[in-house]
Amino acid sequence: MKKENLITLLNNYRKQQKCIIGFNVNDIYDLKAVALAADEANCPVMAMTYPPVVELNSSYLCRKMVDGIQPFSKNPIYLHLDHSISVDMCKKAIDDGYDSVMIDGSQKSLKENIAMTKEVVKYAETAAGVMVEAEIGKIMGRNVVVKSDDDFLASVADVKAMVEEAGPHIMAVGIGTAHGFTPQTPKIHFDRLSEIATAIKEPLVLHGGTGIPDIDIQKSIKMGVAKLNVGTIVHTTYMKELYKEMAKDIDSAYPPYLLKSVIPKIKEVVLDRLNVVNFKSKALI
Ligand code: 13P
Repeated sequence: MKKENLITLLNNYRKQQKCIIGFNVNDIYDLKAVALAADEANCPVMAMTYPPVVELNSSYLCRKMVDGIQPFSKNPIYLHLDHSISVDMCKKAIDDGYDSVMIDGSQKSLKENIAMTKEVVKYAETAAGVMVEAEIGKIMGRNVVVKSDDDFLASVADVKAMVEEAGPHIMAVGIGTAHGFTPQTPKIHFDRLSEIATAIKEPLVLHGGTGIPDIDIQKSIKMGVAKLNVGTIVHTTYMKELYKEMAKDIDSAYPPYLLKSVIPKIKEVVLDRLNVVNFKSKALI
C-alpha cells in the first residue's frame, strides 16, 4: 500500500474536485469501523482525535492505535489532531508522529490566530510532511460564541492574511455549518465559499459534516473543499447502539460480544458518508 504525503494528496484532491473525510474517533472500536468502511469504499481516510481523546490517552497512544490497525487495512489511514486550541498539544502530536494537526485560533483575534498558526506551521516544518490546518470564521454549535448573525462567516481578507502570513496547508472556513445535529438545515454561504476558493489555492475544509445535506457536500467539493469533517454521527451511533446492546442483558454485558454488533452499525454510517463524497451511490449533482 502506497501512503502518499497528505499535503500532496489534498492539493491534488482540490485540483481533481475530490474529497477525503476526517472522522472523529474515540477508541480502537470506532477506528476499526472507519477502517472497514474505508476498505469497502476503497479510499483513504483520516482518523481525527479531539483534544479530550488526546488528554485521556496521549497523542503517543493514539498514534500507536492507528499504527496498529493500519496493516489490516488496504487504504491509508491518516492521523489528525482536530480543533486543538493549544499550540503545545499540536507540537506534542507532531513529535508523536501525527500526519496532520489543526490549530484552532478562531475564538481569538485574527492577529493571535495568525501568530498561533505560524508557530505550529514552523514547528511542523521540522517534521517534514506534517500538514497544518487553520480556521478562519467560526463553525457554530457547541461552545462557540457567535456575536452577531454573520459573525461566523469567514472574511476573504482574513483568509488571505492567514494563508500569506502563517502558511497553513489547508483552511477550515466558517460558511454557515455547525457541529452536531442542528434543529434547522444549515444554510451554507456558497457565495462566500466561491470567493474564498478564488482567493486562495489551498484545499478548503468543511466542518460540521453530520448536519450538511448530501447535495451541499457534493456542491462544496466541486468548489474546492477537499476535506470534510464528520464526528457526531459516528459517536452518537456508537453510544446509542452500545446502549441498546447493553440494555438487552446488562448483567452479562461483555464488551467484545456487544461491540461485535456495534462496529458494523458504525461502519454503515461511515460508509454512507464516504459514498456521498465519492459521488457513488449518492451522486446528486
Ligand atoms: P460533526 O460533529 O457535525 O460531524 O462535525 C465534526 C467536525 O467538524 C469535527 O471537526
